[in-house]
Amino acid sequence: MCSPEYFAVEYAINPWMDVTRPVDPELAVKQWDRLRETLVGLGHEVHLLAPEPGLPDMVYAANGAFSVDGTVYGARFKHHQRTAEAAAHRAFYESQGWRFIAPNETNEGEGDFAYLPEAHGGLILAGYGFRTELAAHAEAQEALGRPVISLRLVDPRFYHLDVALASIDDGNIVYYPGAFSAAGQKVLAQLFPDAVLAEAEDVLAFGLNLVSDGANVVLNSEATRLAGRLKAAGYTPVPVELAELKKGGGSVKCCIAELRH
Ligand code: ARG
Repeated sequence: MCSPEYFAVEYAINPWMDVTRPVDPELAVKQWDRLRETLVGLGHEVHLLAPEPGLPDMVYAANGAFSVDGTVYGARFKHHQRTAEAAAHRAFYESQGWRFIAPNETNEGEGDFAYLPEAHGGLILAGYGFRTELAAHAEAQEALGRPVISLRLVDPRFYHLDVALASIDDGNIVYYPGAFSAAGQKVLAQLFPDAVLAEAEDVLAFGLNLVSDGANVVLNSEATRLAGRLKAAGYTPVPVELAELKKGGGSVKCCIAELRH
């Protein structure tokens, strides 16, 4: 995770960002701190990346890389405003002894890649259409040695995969079908017949931008309907308030890069 110390909406690279709408940086830090404490309280170890002035989106740490089984496939941002973030993530992984593979293709890390270790023997789901290039999906498959399923995103409000789909345990997902092309919906229904399906209201509340440890599902507190649905499916929803960070077009998952050793 990376503190939103320098968080601001200074440019608009997704439909949620409105440069005329002020953000409260202090409140952003407070809400982000609660998210960090929540993860620690659930027994997870949180590493911190030092925020850098001039990189107001750096708080969305999920975009910096994608790791599977100890190997890291680095990010290459689409927008120049975020380009410099990739090096900070790379330095973190290299200092910790991870095997790091630098990308040639544009991709925004866990924003557009998800990993399901127990689905069909280990499956990577990958989004494209707005940020990550399709060519990066093939590059990720070569780097990580797991099959990559390409899914086309069709709604600019759901510009990253992690806004519309999340793993809820090692083998299952929750997603909003309307974010995907008709073929993508068909592929998801075939691969995940037991998936939890979300509705427009859930995805618009950033409810799908969640992290789950297989039991506890940490999600945006505004997604009350989805919380109920997850509870009915046997999970424990853990709501957190992240209204300030929503102004940049992100929530829980965007703030967290999962480290898969
Ligand atoms: N303002 C950031 C951008 O548009 C938000 C990134 C959200 N991160 C995510 N993993 N979806 O790039």
